[in-house]
Amino acid sequence: MPEFQDIIRKRRSVRKFEPGRSVGRDVLERIVDCGRWAPSGANVQCFDFIVVEEPALRDAVTDVFQRQAQRLVDHAKGFPAVKKTYLANTVAIILVLGDPRWKVCFPQPTSEGWEAEYLDNNEAIFLCSLGAAVQNIQLGVAAEGLTSAWLSGGGEDITNNELSELLGYPEWMRAYGTIPIGYPAASQNRRYRRPLDQALHWNGFQAGQYRTHAQVDFYESTLRPFAMYRDEEHMDDWEDRAEKLGEWDAAFTSGNVNPDGKLEPEADFSAPRTAGKATKRRGKD
Ligand SMILES: Cc1cc2nc3c(=O)[nH]c(=O)nc-3n(C[C@H](O)[C@H](O)[C@H](O)COP(=O)(O)O)c2cc1C
Repeated sequence: MPEFQDIIRKRRSVRKFEPGRSVGRDVLERIVDCGRWAPSGANVQCFDFIVVEEPALRDAVTDVFQRQAQRLVDHAKGFPAVKKTYLANTVAIILVLGDPRWKVCFPQPTSEGWEAEYLDNNEAIFLCSLGAAVQNIQLGVAAEGLTSAWLSGGGEDITNNELSELLGYPEWMRAYGTIPIGYPAASQNRRYRRPLDQALHWNGFQAGQYRTHAQVDFYESTLRPFAMYRDEEHMDDWEDRAEKLGEWDAAFTSGNVNPDGKLEPEADFSAPRTAGKATKRRGKD
């Protein structure tokens, strides 16, 4: 278990790789085999893995993701996207394709009025199966002493169409996970994680650990870029902790998130609700 936990912690999203490196196909095969052993709903194995290791093709995939990153800057303002030039320094890029035909193997509604009960959850089963495959691959990468990232942009329509044309898969399949792999150029050992006593609920949901709608809004509008990219597990260690967290300090550094223990009703969660920095930028046009 200690070794396994070490690999879990070493699996980090790294977006800067050493240029000019390579690995053998045997290593890449072992990594993909980790994906093959992922669990999937009804054991349908609704994933295929494309390994891009040929340099010219890798550069073409890099170009696709450069355009994808620019679209985020232009049309998803406020999201702290990074340029994807680093893909050019990968030893390989693995694409995890989702094959939607296999969803018919999940529970199908046979009584009128039961569609909502099953169909939405079938989508969740499909996506979770793909997530498990991506996660297994990232862990396999870490176990091989390499590092990777997890890109979801291949799931966007324009990007997926470009990838399917370049790599020859049917465009109704989708590159839900793209995993650039390489040797890390910068150490990225840690990433912010919520304290365990906040995320872990013993024997039922503890209302004192409930994160309020306002806390989600604060993260979206203000804290997100720091929590995403800083090389520290605990926000307690941030030198500018007081400036960045302010009144939200306890909510991000302790299990004492919601002192009055009140839960809130469902609201419209589909769009940002506050006018913090990120939200303002998004609202410009
Ligand atoms: C479903 C999913 C989609 C993600 N999409 C992207 C992405 O498109 N680009 C990216 O750079 N990172 C992406 N990530 C990586 C997250 O930003 C990263 O996991 C998170 O910030 C925590 O950092 P860590 O992976 O180093 O622990 C994604 C992660 C997941 C699970």
